[in-house]
Amino acid sequence: MDNSELKARFKEQFGHDCRLFFSPGRINLIGEHTDYNEGFVFPGAVDKGITLAIAPNGTRTVNVFPIDLEDETVCSFSLDTPSKPSQRWACYVFGVCMELAARGFLCDGFDATFTGNVPLGAGMSSSAAIDCVFAFALNELFCEGRIDKFELARIGQATENNWLGLKCGIMDQFASVFGKKGQLIRLDCRSLEYEYFPFNPKGYSLVLVDSCVKHMLGGEYNERRESCEKAVAAIACRWPQVKALRDATHDMLDAVRNDITETDYQRALYILDEKDRVLEVCDSLDKGDYENVGRCMYRTHWGMSRQFGASCPETDFLVETAAGCGVAGSRIMGGGFGGCTINLVRDDMMESFLESVRSAYNEKFRIEPKIYKVTVSDGTHEI
Ligand code: GLA
Repeated sequence: MDNSELKARFKEQFGHDCRLFFSPGRINLIGEHTDYNEGFVFPGAVDKGITLAIAPNGTRTVNVFPIDLEDETVCSFSLDTPSKPSQRWACYVFGVCMELAARGFLCDGFDATFTGNVPLGAGMSSSAAIDCVFAFALNELFCEGRIDKFELARIGQATENNWLGLKCGIMDQFASVFGKKGQLIRLDCRSLEYEYFPFNPKGYSLVLVDSCVKHMLGGEYNERRESCEKAVAAIACRWPQVKALRDATHDMLDAVRNDITETDYQRALYILDEKDRVLEVCDSLDKGDYENVGRCMYRTHWGMSRQFGASCPETDFLVETAAGCGVAGSRIMGGGFGGCTINLVRDDMMESFLESVRSAYNEKFRIEPKIYKVTVSDGTHEI
């Protein structure tokens, strides 16, 4: 649905005009599950995301409906006697209102609808795009833009943590709000210091291959996070200065191996390796060594799969197929358990790779994988 159709649909439903806002999904070159371990990540916003049509309605009630989800009925809730909606999608909107209020930013009633072209459950953070587009728009509509971008990202993250039950880190919301055309962002998830990295690898392109295995992040994601916290607790008994896996070394983890389960040990080991890989990738990017960037991506994938336990047979197969085609780098992207692989592909082999991966995946799983060519783009903004 294009922007003028969206405005028309809004007017038809609510009988008045609206403003439009956009918030993107994201990719992540490397640094998976490092955000809540207070390490580094390397995301960028993409040109796909959520577009929101919204306007105040002069009441204390919020009325909102989604376009192109199965259920397009309006959900209404009161801001004076708030009670959490039953529809999952509406909890994002409700959560953002509650998180704003908890920080002393009060909004009034509004009417809204939203539509998206970022695939759901594909590891591209469609949900962060929803949190962030509402946080950004409500800031403009009711708070004269007083909330800074860091706080908008935190409001999005807190919405997921407190109202959707997902104990995610800050990466997705940060990337959605801070994205910049043509630039990846190296973000230190402890200090929130960040640096833009121009990303235009000569002779290579990024392409996402969607396994079409839908992941709904929840229990399994939170369990991975708990494993990391258990490893930190064991290490901190001996090294109290260790507050997160960011501070731990391989020697420290080995020293407590018998104090934690083998599963927790392997998951923590993946994080320590991944921490090092992010730094190695930064170094390789500085040198223009994209082949090594790609090798690091493969290592991330097999770490996610074998140590962290966050892949699935379909994404493993996509990565094996990429390796078989001689693709520079390939790995599962995002929280895991399905969704897309991100592939760094030499331009001269792009078409043959896409052809091979399509037919091999189809033959093995009887599923046509979706292919997304990615353009690194701007973050949340008014249209
Ligand atoms: C999801 C979470 C992020 C991050 C990634 C894994 O996308 O929302 O905070 O942990 O998984 O890197």
